Amino acid sequence: MAEQNSIHGLWRSRWLFILAATGSAVGLGNIWKFPYITGENGGGAFVLVYLLCICLIGLPVMIAEVLLGRAGRQSPINTMTAIAKDQQVSSAWAGIGWMGAMSGFLILSFYSVIAGWALDYVFNTASGAFSGVTAQQSGEMFSSLLASPLTLLFWHSVFMFLTMAVVARGVNKGLEKAIQVLMPLLFILLAVLLAYAYTLDGFGQGFDFLFSFDFSKLSSESVIVALGHAFFTLSLGMGAIMAYGAYMPGNVSIGKTVLMVGALDTLVALVAGLIIFPIVFTNGLEPSAGPGLLFQTLPVAFGQMPFGIVFGSLFFILVAFAAWSSSISLGEPVVAWAVETLGMGRIKAAVIVGLVGWVLGIGTILSFNLWSDVTLFGKTIFDTLDFLTANIMLPLGGLLIAVFVGWKMRQNDVMAEAAMGNPLLFNIWHITVKFIAPVGIAFVLYNGLK
Ligand code: PFF
Repeated sequence: MAEQNSIHGLWRSRWLFILAATGSAVGLGNIWKFPYITGENGGGAFVLVYLLCICLIGLPVMIAEVLLGRAGRQSPINTMTAIAKDQQVSSAWAGIGWMGAMSGFLILSFYSVIAGWALDYVFNTASGAFSGVTAQQSGEMFSSLLASPLTLLFWHSVFMFLTMAVVARGVNKGLEKAIQVLMPLLFILLAVLLAYAYTLDGFGQGFDFLFSFDFSKLSSESVIVALGHAFFTLSLGMGAIMAYGAYMPGNVSIGKTVLMVGALDTLVALVAGLIIFPIVFTNGLEPSAGPGLLFQTLPVAFGQMPFGIVFGSLFFILVAFAAWSSSISLGEPVVAWAVETLGMGRIKAAVIVGLVGWVLGIGTILSFNLWSDVTLFGKTIFDTLDFLTANIMLPLGGLLIAVFVGWKMRQNDVMAEAAMGNPLLFNIWHITVKFIAPVGIAFVLYNGLK
């Protein structure tokens, strides 16, 4: 279809694409958000719906998104424009790219603030501030962080700078190097913490909370949150994975690669839950504590365990790194577009995107303190941004992507680009993308928003 190469470079191997896409997928969504929304939505039944959304909707849409990126080999906006032209359908389909760019800015703005919490916690943990703290003290320490707009602004600024520094260098030079070391380290540390959680009295209770299904706890809002989270955690619906797909070598099978990324992402989320909930129950904490859950619970554990200062500091460093490799993919689509279309240098584009995200992030910071009673439909600025992006814009983007690939593109082109090798697998995926994913998303969105 379009060019064989991207002007931004290509991943040097299939493995590097897997690492980069996993780096994008695995982030705050898995370690911070998944546990707290599971806690808020009652546990097991929510987890089951989330897993169904991943398998039936997330993975098929992810294949579609990578496929579009690789076929277009440009930023999502220009990729969609080029493919729409090539397939002789309306250029309005480029709207997928434009809406994605909007979602990217909005998510980046609050993502950076939350990642800033993790940075703050690296230093708190390393200083020994959590040694022997009770759950209540840990909760108070977290509240005092939220009450300080300047501290939040400081860490938000540091994180945004780090993100844009990598985006400015380009994916090959910046990103590939870092994730090759950091992702494996994160997996090792999660395994260590899981082993610790297993020794706690509350492990069984935590396990049951995650895996025993009580459907009476499930509301229609829970279902939309589960679907939204499937998109958020896999970085879908806004072009991040499309942008990364644009740098994927041509001879790689998309299906297998995507399955691997999805499996790793899901594994990290479940392990994070298996670490956090035993700590919650062992210490008599509330699973429904909300966005502070991770930051209120883990310090209690680090304060008790041997070498807690070392493990704790390392853990928050890795959370920050996981967030870093995700936020880079939030910035990449827009920066790539500015380079292609406005002829801007990468550095200048990254500075502008970073500044806009940084300014928007101030709204999130203030929503935890000075503006905590400023609400829209009963939600704070942060809650509104989170709900609007994850639960509406990303699923809507995913719906449009599924319809475009399933209905608007010529099937032969789709088949050639997917390079699945096995016609049966291709057909299963194609039917899912054509029927199951769009109908599922439309149904959940309609019911959830009604
Ligand atoms: N997938 C990331 C996470 O789970 O933390 C968040 C994210 C990154 C969402 C990139 C969307 C995106 F485009």
